Amino acid sequence: MQRLKGFREFYPEPLPPGEEWSCDLRQHIFDCWRRTARRYGFREYDGPPLEPLDLYTAKSGDEIVSQLFNFLDKGNDAVSLRPEMTPTVARMVAAAERAYRKPIKWYSMPQLFRYEAPQKGRLREHFQFNCDLFGEEDPAADAEVVALLIDVLRSMGLTEEDFVIRLSSRKAWQAFYESQGGQPDQAYAFFQAVDKMERDDAETSARRFAPTGVTPAAVKEFVSAGVPTAELQGILDNLSARGLGAYVKIDYGVIRGLAYYTGVVFEAFDRKGEFRAIAGGGRYDNLVSLLSGGKVKLPALGFGMGDVVLALLLRKRGKVPSFSSTIDVMVLVEDETLRLESLALVQQLREAGKAVEYSLTPLKSDKQFKRALEMGAGHWVRLERAEGGIQVRVKDLKTRTEATGQPAGVLALLSGGAAAAS
Ligand code: HAM
Repeated sequence: MQRLKGFREFYPEPLPPGEEWSCDLRQHIFDCWRRTARRYGFREYDGPPLEPLDLYTAKSGDEIVSQLFNFLDKGNDAVSLRPEMTPTVARMVAAAERAYRKPIKWYSMPQLFRYEAPQKGRLREHFQFNCDLFGEEDPAADAEVVALLIDVLRSMGLTEEDFVIRLSSRKAWQAFYESQGGQPDQAYAFFQAVDKMERDDAETSARRFAPTGVTPAAVKEFVSAGVPTAELQGILDNLSARGLGAYVKIDYGVIRGLAYYTGVVFEAFDRKGEFRAIAGGGRYDNLVSLLSGGKVKLPALGFGMGDVVLALLLRKRGKVPSFSSTIDVMVLVEDETLRLESLALVQQLREAGKAVEYSLTPLKSDKQFKRALEMGAGHWVRLERAEGGIQVRVKDLKTRTEATGQPAGVLALLSGGAAAAS
């Protein structure tokens, strides 16, 4: 039985031959995501992995809809695995915003599903860090979210030489479109054509632009001029004041494929342009209103960062830490008549929060000792018969000091008492 195409299995490191993904790396990425979000005052939320199909069909735009993992459930309801988190969080905020102080700053790390053609950096499932901010329309909020995006990547050891945030604005594109005589009914087609421009050949691009009445040449000129709007300049200045100016550049080549964006949009890319986008996001000021039937109006913005391109980039730049499965204590059972007492000791240590290993079945003591070393144990502990009863012997494997004492005092011996008592 093979796993499905585009789905991953996460092994513990070291990886078996042919495998790329480890739970250790995933955990490292999750830790960096979580720590940085907390530093920016974001709170964690989550939502259902399965949603009503129409949450996406009306709001997300054609591309993502064509990639849905959707089906009829046993009650004949049209449902879909979540391909993105934004509609879910917008619905959650619309329903409960009164309970929270504004701005609402939330993050999540959902596993998402898209029926895409698997390729480098694109799979059929991925984990995506989502950070979203609701209830603030000032561009100071846009700068804050972009700063968070930059700091997440920096927290993994990536520098301004490794990545860049390409900053753009749907409003700038809208103004350009209108200045070219573009009609409102073709605006979405125009945005789609711009979004695909970098990947399309010249002929396909011309075909996409034709109904919009705007020429690809005019579009290219607008992109290469790259003059920031006042709003974008404010964001650049804000980021420069934090010392993060070198991580951002104006790039109107970015417009974002999703339909709900209304203002500033951005994407993070590796500097060398080897990989697809690491992250993407922007402002979507109308989505909360759309999902609440006009009842709640809240400006919103945020981004999503997938783990797939990120992991490729971290590996390529040598930024994946080495992972080891160290334990705190190996309990050696050398005298099998003391196995039950040893089990009590194992339990006592685990209840105190120590990571403890021991041999489940009788094993020669040199093998148990070897295993302690292989597992990177900080100490080994052994029960011994002594005059007057049972004593515990503790060895610190770093300092190579030993100590003995009452089994009940094992924790004190482990935390430094070993050296003192030897
Ligand atoms: P997105 O650009 O569709 O935006 O996805 C964001 C990131 O998720 C991408 O830059 C990429 O790293 C990763 N990603 C997307 N699809 C795949 C895939 N098939 N395989 C691997 N990685 C993938 C959104 O999803 C928006 N909802 C983000 C957002 C949040 N906007 C505002 N708030």
